[in-house]
Amino acid sequence: MILHHYLALCKDALRLAAINTVAHALHINQNPARCPEAIGVCAPGDGCIGQEVSRETGPRPRDSGRAPRHKAAMDLDSRYPGLTDLKQAAQRRLPKFVWEYLDSGTGSEATKARNRVALDAIGMMPSILHGEFAPDLSTTFLGQSFPAPFGIAPVGMSGLIWADAEGHLARSAARNGIPYCMSTAASQSPEDITPALGAHGWYQLYPPRDEEIRRDMLARARDAGFTTLVLTVDVPVASRRERQTRSGLRQPPKLTPRLMAQVAIRPAWALTMARRGMPWMRTFDKYAPSTPGTLPPTAHVGYLLRTSPDRAYLDWLRREWDGPLIVKGVLRPEDCAGLEEAGVNAIWVSNHAGRQFDGAPAAIDMLPLIREASALPLIFDSGVEGGLDILRALTCGADFVMLGRAWHFALAALGPQGPDYLFGMLCKDMISNMGQLGARNLREIPKPVALG
Ligand SMILES: Cc1cc2nc3c(=O)[nH]c(=O)nc-3n(C[C@H](O)[C@H](O)[C@H](O)COP(=O)(O)O)c2cc1C
Repeated sequence: MILHHYLALCKDALRLAAINTVAHALHINQNPARCPEAIGVCAPGDGCIGQEVSRETGPRPRDSGRAPRHKAAMDLDSRYPGLTDLKQAAQRRLPKFVWEYLDSGTGSEATKARNRVALDAIGMMPSILHGEFAPDLSTTFLGQSFPAPFGIAPVGMSGLIWADAEGHLARSAARNGIPYCMSTAASQSPEDITPALGAHGWYQLYPPRDEEIRRDMLARARDAGFTTLVLTVDVPVASRRERQTRSGLRQPPKLTPRLMAQVAIRPAWALTMARRGMPWMRTFDKYAPSTPGTLPPTAHVGYLLRTSPDRAYLDWLRREWDGPLIVKGVLRPEDCAGLEEAGVNAIWVSNHAGRQFDGAPAAIDMLPLIREASALPLIFDSGVEGGLDILRALTCGADFVMLGRAWHFALAALGPQGPDYLFGMLCKDMISNMGQLGARNLREIPKPVALG
């Protein structure tokens, strides 16, 4: 009886997870009306290990109340000293097809690998005899002050990793004073996130083709409290993510014994999803075709999202959005002049973590060239795995750094407290490396030197 009930839960969780995962992977959505009603709010400490983070001392474990005693007593710093440890724990917790969705690149993943190799090739000379000091990580970006020069990049369908993931990420960002950039393809709507947003809510736009919807989405983002608009330009077409397909994901999604087996060996994930309700791209509920059958059910979000923007589109956005406008997914220095001309406020250098085009250069290799080509503030992402990588990006010309997967590894590994833990880990890692460099603040980070 219990087994039967459990299998039913797994089946339900799997059906919806598979549908949503494939939908995002292919930039297509199912009919949202078919999804269950609610995504529950995961209470702090629910099924996870609570902790506080302080800039000076890093994360401090504490009992969350509901967490098992042995877990609460665990020393997180020694169990999860680096992102690799969080990543391994995340992989153990997530069903394979969710893991593949989160971790995979496109093609043979050469671009993803190149990001790592290129970051590792950037060195800086350590310094000696600089005495004692406490490095200052604070910075200003687009006229705002931040306690550290990094934030949370947009990730679609975060809710697959943890229930109310976007809420947890936004609240952690607000607590720590860093930006949270919410994806158009998030599993919650801009309105859902309003109560969780701090001062630095950014909204990422996958450019809708329909002008009315476009206008409405901007108004919703503005009314929901997002201050900054990020236009993603490196998804002109859907990419192929072969690892996701290999994991058993199909289009149209199909429940197979193989996927069932993946969920069955991750009961914690399956039960959380079943209890909380499975995620879907809630932003688009409002735009679902009123007449069923107007669009093929699998083409819904594809229709809404799959425009490849051009310069006229960017000009339109610039006219409509009066806050800071950032263009994300830039790799070519020669594109910078046009972006400056269009009046964008910052350029986001990224190869989408190697998820879009496997022939792209490492994003970090393009950063110095883009720095040379433009005086605009620069954001960097793609492959950042720790404080040293953040320093590498800064020394190569970035003004600010964003991370995508890392926050989700932390969420999957530690639940709602994961992002705070990661924030502390990244700060401590930056502080330690700045101590080696003799850099008292971010302006004192030395120039890069090429390694081996
Ligand atoms: C699972 C996943 C989903 C993503 N979804 C989006 C998205 O909806 N919009 C977007 O602009 N970028 C998206 N990205 C790209 C991230 O914003 C960011 O560019 C990238 O993850 C940075 O590299 P990192 O994960 O190595 O830190 C996604 C990345 C991942 C891993």
